[in-house]
Amino acid sequence: MRICRRALSTILFMLVIAGSWIPAETQNSRASTSPQLAQTPPMGWNSWNKFACNVSEQLIRETADAMISTGMHAAGYQYVNIDDCWQVSRDAQGNIVADPARFPSGIKALADYVHGKGLKLGVYTDAGRLTCQKRPGSYDHEVQDATTYASWGVDYVKIDWCHAEGLDPEVQYTKFRDALAQSGRSIVFSICNWGVNAPWTWGPKTGNLWRTTGDINDTYDRMSVIGFSQNGLEKFAGPGHWNDPDMLEVGNSGMNRNEYRTHMSLWAILAAPLLAGNDLRNMTAETKDMLTNSEVIAVDQDSKGAQGRRMWDEGPLEIWMKPLANGSRAIGLFNRGESSLKITLDFKMIGATGSLKLRDVWEHQDLGQMEKSYTADVPKHGVVMLIASK
Ligand code: GAL
Repeated sequence: MRICRRALSTILFMLVIAGSWIPAETQNSRASTSPQLAQTPPMGWNSWNKFACNVSEQLIRETADAMISTGMHAAGYQYVNIDDCWQVSRDAQGNIVADPARFPSGIKALADYVHGKGLKLGVYTDAGRLTCQKRPGSYDHEVQDATTYASWGVDYVKIDWCHAEGLDPEVQYTKFRDALAQSGRSIVFSICNWGVNAPWTWGPKTGNLWRTTGDINDTYDRMSVIGFSQNGLEKFAGPGHWNDPDMLEVGNSGMNRNEYRTHMSLWAILAAPLLAGNDLRNMTAETKDMLTNSEVIAVDQDSKGAQGRRMWDEGPLEIWMKPLANGSRAIGLFNRGESSLKITLDFKMIGATGSLKLRDVWEHQDLGQMEKSYTADVPKHGVVMLIASK
């Protein structure tokens, strides 16, 4: 009996060592990229929307400086992310090479500079053979590139999906997940395959965020089509793993104030990553105030990590709601129409009874205790964003 028990425990021990006793699900989560990262949606800046391929170490350094001097960092923004075009070739050993003309000091020196400001650095690559701008992709170099990024001190990597014909996104992004996990550094993993093969279904066990659509641009039409189409994806988001409706266009001047307010409000209610995409070195006061509105950011960064959803719609009018950790609700009254319209929030629409205390977060104004409903004038393409509490 005694020998039997010893034999049994030896077998159990060997099974544990082999890892074969761990159910498949646990094995997946064990390999996933630093799950403690991105407990709230990542906040930072990315070069693409404003600068496209016109990136350089000077731009990145000046942007890091501006992140501090404008109060963006104090408001919560921390990642400074270089998008496509920083890389030009591979060396004889297959190591990725940064453009020596645009990044003469190299990415490691840039990471040191950015870290010296208390910020974090991100880079971009592609899971296919080439990036979208035809720079070397990471296909077949997943471990090598993840190791390189870790050695440079990179904190965030966005991985695109151009030139990936015939490849399966779940398979390729899982390779990256494992390569990043092995790299020895905590690196936020941003999957950018534009919603191909429904990344929300496999993204949560693979990366920290995944793009759900094609690219945004600086127009109300494109921004609103993307933002309002996120309804239904809320069940896939939560701390450590987020739907990504693409980066912000606030401050790039293609939309007016009401339209940019809609952009910020919707992204906050969606618990979307907030990656500014404008020139932080030359912001108007209006843009800065919009990007750093602490009450809107608090909705996005709420610790519950719930993504909001549509509660009601009628023609061009929509009411969205995001539950917050303290039991309050963030509410967006959106007017997608072409003229100013009234929207009535009947508290039953958001599952509330009796009276609610309302606050207008853009106006920084308490509206008082309201009975049963609240009616607001909402401008064309605009929003009234509220916090409702008991
Ligand atoms: C797109 C991506 C953009 C940007 C661009 C760079 O595929 O969605 O956000 O990264 O590539 O070429």
